[in-house]
Amino acid sequence: MDFVLRPWRRSDAPDVARYANNDRIAKNLRNIFPYPYTLADAEGFIESCIAADEEKQMFRAIEVDGHAVGSIALCLGGDVYALTAELGYWLAEDYWGKGIMTQAVRQMCKEGFARWADLVRIHAEPFAHNALSRRVLEKAGFTLEGVLRQSVFKRHKVCDSCIYALLRDEM
Ligand SMILES: CC(C)(COP(=O)(O)OP(=O)(O)OC[C@H]1O[C@@H](n2cnc3c(N)ncnc32)[C@H](O)[C@@H]1OP(=O)(O)O)[C@@H](O)C(=O)NCCC(=O)NCCS
Repeated sequence: MDFVLRPWRRSDAPDVARYANNDRIAKNLRNIFPYPYTLADAEGFIESCIAADEEKQMFRAIEVDGHAVGSIALCLGGDVYALTAELGYWLAEDYWGKGIMTQAVRQMCKEGFARWADLVRIHAEPFAHNALSRRVLEKAGFTLEGVLRQSVFKRHKVCDSCIYALLRDEM
């Protein structure tokens, strides 16, 4: 399915509020991603994306048929992690299973390595039970480097997360 990755616009807020307000998305993300997800949450998120320093963060909307139906982001680390970036993403449930995120991850990683010439590594940390996200990372060429046992406390439960990474020369 055709999509484009593009910078966020304030006019995307109603789409984000509509599509992000889904517990099947929220339960797989960190608690900073709220549920229920309101229009004010969408507006705040988009403002932070617009204000972000592109030297350190890349926030992109995933647009299908003129609507923002998902989000993908790369954030450079600090201190000794300055040459690594963390990848995060979500997609509206109506669009799952069409290969969109696998393509979006590949495209975003290509853009990240091109934009940040010193970047050596991109990593992502899905919860261990998040089979869809793990499959996306595997299809996009990431390597499973390990399981972080009992690293996550989400909704009153402790669970494992997985660390996946893609190095520059593996693109
Ligand atoms: C994870 C997410 C982004 C996937 O997006 P998507 O565009 O549907 O992903 P794709 O279509 O590119 O690939 C999904 C893969 O998972 C597979 N899949 C679907 N259900 C699955 C299951 N229960 N177990 C294992 N794999 C499954 C699909 O078949 C597909 O693999 P295939 O192409 O080999 O058949 C989307 O489900 C989402 O937004 N989830 C909630 C938020 C989230 O988890 N974000 C990531 C946090 S790390």
